[in-house]
Amino acid sequence: MTVITCIDDLRQIYRRRAPRMFYDYCESGSWTEQTFRDNSADFARIRLRQKVAVDMEGRSTASTMIGEAVSMPVALAPVGMGGMNWADGEIHAARAAEAFGVPYTLSTMSICSIEDVAAHVARPFWFQLYVMNDQDFVDAIIERARAARCSALVLTLDLQILGQRHKDLKNGLSAPPKLTLPTMMNLATKWGWGLRMLGTRRRFFGNIVGHAKGVSDAASLMDWTSEQFDPKLDWSKIASIRDMWGGKLILKGILDAEDARRAADFGADAIIVSNHGGRQLDGALSTIRVLPEIVAAVGDRTEVWLDSGIRSGQDVLKALALGAKGTMIGRAYIYGLGAMGGPGVTRALEIIRKELDVTMALCGERDVRALGRHNLLVPKGFFDAYD
Ligand code: GLV
Repeated sequence: MTVITCIDDLRQIYRRRAPRMFYDYCESGSWTEQTFRDNSADFARIRLRQKVAVDMEGRSTASTMIGEAVSMPVALAPVGMGGMNWADGEIHAARAAEAFGVPYTLSTMSICSIEDVAAHVARPFWFQLYVMNDQDFVDAIIERARAARCSALVLTLDLQILGQRHKDLKNGLSAPPKLTLPTMMNLATKWGWGLRMLGTRRRFFGNIVGHAKGVSDAASLMDWTSEQFDPKLDWSKIASIRDMWGGKLILKGILDAEDARRAADFGADAIIVSNHGGRQLDGALSTIRVLPEIVAAVGDRTEVWLDSGIRSGQDVLKALALGAKGTMIGRAYIYGLGAMGGPGVTRALEIIRKELDVTMALCGERDVRALGRHNLLVPKGFFDAYD
């Protein structure tokens, strides 16, 4: 067994253990994958300012996100089909996050249902909502999230139409997998995964199957989004969701300063600067490049968080230093989940926390909340390279 020292080690084990269609689903961007690559490449362009002879004792990565105490400002992002990477995956991930003291966000497109996850954790989690055409389904799922004591609704704004990821079409992605010959040949090499899957009843979109009417193929994410997601989602609909929910609201998928201002005027408790991990508008800028402009646009009227491209504690530090109050990781924890289940998620969180803590120390900082632009060295013209 290899010694696991970084997030990429988890990715490689995940790649060996999970069926190819789910690994590919996780590890793809849309179209040419330019934005998917830029997200990580742009983090790497930013450098750190080393400071020496600073007392490093008593460091803390603790902070808050929408008023909730977190052991580090890194939440688990909503990820579709989590429970296809490892049997009962969402339950394992939610429990690992709870034990670690970071928030967990359950996706609408999860395998384990809201109720199932709620039955396995004590700390409230967040629920990510996709707005569907079927108003009864939307009303009911908001009610279900409330009944499960979810402490925030994360409304995703950048996926009312699905960006095409070529491999998902080529692989015939579905949950559970349809047993075509190529899929069966691939599954034959993933027996651990298969045995665990045979041992659970959670193999379908748990929030949807049995809850939504008129779905022609509840196994296919692609069919589902094209048939059911509401393409008319606009600010007036967002307002009606906000009023229906009545609790904390986080708006996810903002990349533009004007949209960010609008979200702040609207009273969002937090906004997430996100390009959906490069899975939606290919050609959009990386999130780290647009972050400072968005932070400047909203000031302290709402919390600004960032996701897309974070694979290390250094990346987290860079986002925080550029004004994000929190971050989210998606792939970085799915690698761990697909590699080893719940302990893999814990391992991913440990890796990121250690990297964040040691990097902070070498930058001469003791408190994660004190990080700022002074900790970074940014290439000239980086933030205004595009007009
Ligand atoms: C869903 O959120 C996806 O990115 O596939």
